[in-house]
Amino acid sequence: MAQLLSNTCSIQSVVPESYILPPERRPGQHVVLPCNTIPVIDLDGNRNELIQEIIKASQEYGFFQLRNHGVSEELMKDVLVVAKEFFDLPVEEKQRFCSEDPLEQACSLKTSIDFANEKVHFWRDTLRHNCHPLEEHIQQWPENPARYREVFGLYSVEVRNLGLRILDLICEGLGLEAGYFKGGLSQGHMMSLNHYPPCPDPTLVLGLPKHGDPFTLTLLNQGDVPGLQVLKDEQWVAVDPLPNAFVVNINHMLQIISNGKLKSAYHRVVASNVDRMTVVSFIRPSMDVLIEPSKSLVSESNPPLYKCFTFGDFRRTYRTDTHEGKDPLEHLMIRS
Ligand code: OGA
Ligand code: NI
Repeated sequence: MAQLLSNTCSIQSVVPESYILPPERRPGQHVVLPCNTIPVIDLDGNRNELIQEIIKASQEYGFFQLRNHGVSEELMKDVLVVAKEFFDLPVEEKQRFCSEDPLEQACSLKTSIDFANEKVHFWRDTLRHNCHPLEEHIQQWPENPARYREVFGLYSVEVRNLGLRILDLICEGLGLEAGYFKGGLSQGHMMSLNHYPPCPDPTLVLGLPKHGDPFTLTLLNQGDVPGLQVLKDEQWVAVDPLPNAFVVNINHMLQIISNGKLKSAYHRVVASNVDRMTVVSFIRPSMDVLIEPSKSLVSESNPPLYKCFTFGDFRRTYRTDTHEGKDPLEHLMIRS
């Protein structure tokens, strides 16, 4: 198995060759704008105003920060602490989660993105597992650290409910029939624990390259270390941490269902010289669910922009397209 960064980087004082991006792909190639334009939304506001704010942010940025969301500050912090405790375990303890074929394993630990096939590696280790329904998945989660299952069990249920609540507001804001996102479109909940170790020279690497999230909705708990950037009008904008907030972003499937009204924005992660831990929740469709622009959003004057396909079909091409720098939605577009 590929060496995890968490086990090697503490002894590194230079960036290994295999992580160094060609000059044109390095993060410093472009100006990064400050965070002050990314919308910040309070979930405990007036419902109608809240819906308008969420739709506007999702149209303009595809990203917003969410405050007063009901998940306690203690739990937000706890998952990051326990996640870091997991990555601090001895390598032998973590090894059993490493698999040659991470898609086959229910709880998988890997480094970079596609270590065996990518030309340059990314400055990240990640532990990934499903969370819903909890009783079907929790047995596959780490037993060590001792609090892992308890803390992540609690957190995953709360974050899933929060995600479904946001989808309900989006459903109403788009004028879709009530419950549109219930069922297949939000059937799964997958979590990624991303560890970005301190990097000796952050200008040479990326934690994650430019990508859009393939599922329905993402809720990111990014602690207090910056690193996330979102592409808006061809410019990178920093999404700086806001205490106790979730960063929420529209995924590719939601862009298609909304017939392009909501935006699944490209984003990336830059490394830094301090340790960064994030916990990401993806609300995701089941593989066999049909994805297409909602019938109620298309008409003769507003024809569908995308074809109908199953989520499983999309998953087969998404990764390669994204890695090759292609728009993964390109071949799903209907040409007029
Ligand atoms: C992701 C992602 C951002 C972060 O996992 O898809 O974009 O800051 N993560 O870890
Ligand atoms: Ni992402």
